[in-house]
Amino acid sequence: MFKKLQEYRVEGQKVYFRYEEGSEAFKPCVEVISDNIFNVFIDYTGSGHRTRAIEGELGKRLNDGHNEENGKLESVSWDEAGVVIRTSQLTAIVGDDFKIDFYGSNGEPLSLAYRGGRRRNGQINEAALELLAKEGHAVAGKSTEDYALQELRALEPSDCIYGLGDKTGVLNKRYYEYEMWNSDFPEPHEDNFKSLYKSIPFMLVLKKKGAYGIFFDNHNRTYFDLGKECDDYYLFGADTGNLDYYFIGGAGLKDVVSNYTWLTGRAPMQQLWTLGFHQSRWGYESEREIRGIAEGMKKHNLPCDCIHFDIDYMDHYKVFTWNQETYEDGAKVISDFKDMGIKAVAIIDPGVKVEKDYYVYEEGMQGGYFAKTPEGEVYVNEVWPGDAVYPDFGNPDARKWWGEKQKFLIDMGVSGVWNDMNEPASFRGPLPDDVVFTDEDRPAPHSEMHNIYGHNMAKATYEGWKKLSGKRPFVITRACYSGSQKYTTAWTGDNHSIWTHLRMAIPQMCNLGLSGMSFVGTDVGGFGSDCTPELFARWIQVGCFSPLFRDHCAKGCRTQEPWQFGKEVLDISRKYINLRYELLPYFYDLMHESEVTGLPIIRPLVLEYENDENVKNRNDEFMLGDRLLVAPVVEQGAREKLVYLPEGEWYDYWTGEKIEGEKFFVRKAPLDVCPIYVKAGAVIPKYPLRMHVGEDKDDLLILEAYPGSGTYTHYQDNGEDFGYWQGEYNEYRISNEDGRTEIEALHEGYRPYGNVEIRAGQRIWSAR
Ligand code: GLC
Repeated sequence: MFKKLQEYRVEGQKVYFRYEEGSEAFKPCVEVISDNIFNVFIDYTGSGHRTRAIEGELGKRLNDGHNEENGKLESVSWDEAGVVIRTSQLTAIVGDDFKIDFYGSNGEPLSLAYRGGRRRNGQINEAALELLAKEGHAVAGKSTEDYALQELRALEPSDCIYGLGDKTGVLNKRYYEYEMWNSDFPEPHEDNFKSLYKSIPFMLVLKKKGAYGIFFDNHNRTYFDLGKECDDYYLFGADTGNLDYYFIGGAGLKDVVSNYTWLTGRAPMQQLWTLGFHQSRWGYESEREIRGIAEGMKKHNLPCDCIHFDIDYMDHYKVFTWNQETYEDGAKVISDFKDMGIKAVAIIDPGVKVEKDYYVYEEGMQGGYFAKTPEGEVYVNEVWPGDAVYPDFGNPDARKWWGEKQKFLIDMGVSGVWNDMNEPASFRGPLPDDVVFTDEDRPAPHSEMHNIYGHNMAKATYEGWKKLSGKRPFVITRACYSGSQKYTTAWTGDNHSIWTHLRMAIPQMCNLGLSGMSFVGTDVGGFGSDCTPELFARWIQVGCFSPLFRDHCAKGCRTQEPWQFGKEVLDISRKYINLRYELLPYFYDLMHESEVTGLPIIRPLVLEYENDENVKNRNDEFMLGDRLLVAPVVEQGAREKLVYLPEGEWYDYWTGEKIEGEKFFVRKAPLDVCPIYVKAGAVIPKYPLRMHVGEDKDDLLILEAYPGSGTYTHYQDNGEDFGYWQGEYNEYRISNEDGRTEIEALHEGYRPYGNVEIRAGQRIWSAR
């Protein structure tokens, strides 16, 4: 299509192109969004940008091309390679067939269009494929069709690819293929699954030198082939919608993540207690049982901030109701929990039970808030309550209504919402493509709204809670899209209590973090299947460092509270839950950093050391921020761990031993040891141990200063509301020279600590 480039025209920050063919209808365009971001747009639908990821002023301006304040289109010229568009940081050269090459600020190529034909790695033996198909195997390797719209970009042998949300498998996504179609798979998630609950069509490419990102903002079903079909290129495409992608540059991976989250939004601070330990299970069937869980936490001396109420609390699984037979007086349980320092989070699914006189159903029917069939009937499928209808969260009125419904939970004393089943899931076959939803101001089919259903539900929930509770809303979601980080945290859905899933938790959380979702976690211990004592002990060690630290499992599986596996595992659980509570201010600082820069809390090593070949495929270690490295044991029976530390000096957290980095070594790791390393010169802020957030101990801040030199910024606020947006916070810069520290106040807007205790590294080591 398009063929020869004939002319270009500049309008504001946009450059339109005229080609020999098709350009009048589809208006191919490259727009400067910021110095580091180009948008590439072909308006196949004629509807302009229909983004749901980019909101606010930036989102509005996408259709009028006036984004000058974020970066300038510096020049446009035409040379023999094509039309050259420059910002201060990037250059795009647009040629025939709307092929675009991107270059960095020094003129080095970052990403070139692929100009060859479609090719396939290896030979295809048609007869063998036929036999495989007979036995029922999915036939991999069969030739891929062209998508109605697609982009092929060149790959170099050393390129690694990260991001793409919660996809299964390994950290580096190169050579794999994925589909963006929010999917609820009950069977154990395998490495080769193409889709899962979330659709975040953002990928980062790390090159030998430099990095860039591609955000394909098309929320229909989209496809990514990252070198599986052919070593020489990757492709992304869709059957419908627009070719609407952002080329995102930056000084390195971190900058690319920052620029992507600048575009799609950053995760705002959560309340401090959300960083504590959460206990959950589907199948706490009565008030008595769930009270026993809170008591168990106390009895076993386990810090805990939250117990989750799964669907068991509802009356016949009807959302915004309470089962008074089994769960009796909900408000009383929740207030008794509060007295124990434990908050309640309640699950809310989208499916509304079809039942005459059930107020949520009746209100939704009257308001016209449910999705319809093309014939105009309310569409019915089945989820937990039986026949159920689907709120049309793309309709702003339905969102407002749903937001107001949250009052039921808030009045009960609930502190946060867990949004589940919002792919949306359905038990009687998938929702047909043509079920009619709304996309803000016009009807839109399910096929177009599917991937943003969870996003819109989380947005409705967040906005309702923000208005009604006055606190920072705590929403957890299973399904989401790019940009959902503004409204919600996330967990990785129904994993299983199997070692492969403990291993997979690490790349999954790391890639979610690189995709803008900084507050994430997996079900600690695994959701489906029966956990073993050893697996639980190792999982709690990973959970301790996961932003969302929640033990959760399925009805019918072995009970999974920390005391269910004997004394040894209980002691190990306590050790790591305690450590988490000590590290709360460190996590809180990282959460603050996420809001300011978009960088994730939990990070793959490659984000910090992108030039180190040894970390590009490191699946079994991760970092918290830039100074704590965790190398958990994720193999059954292993009592040693092969650890890799990147360049620089490190300290073994447990022994204080100094280790020179850039090397592999074996660390002894008995069942109670998760190897942890601290970067030389680091300052780690801690709180004294407490049984829950808000226990009256907040007044002491401990600063652990490690040998070496470095600076650290510590952030403090009331941990609950949005006062910090009005300046109600403190910020301190701590400089450390071999344990000699100085503290400087950068901002003073909140009650200061009563006491700050500085501990030099050596003292801590001898104390341990
Ligand atoms: C889904 C959720 C799971 C929850 C269950 C019952 O499977 O993913 O976490 O416990 O539904 O609500």
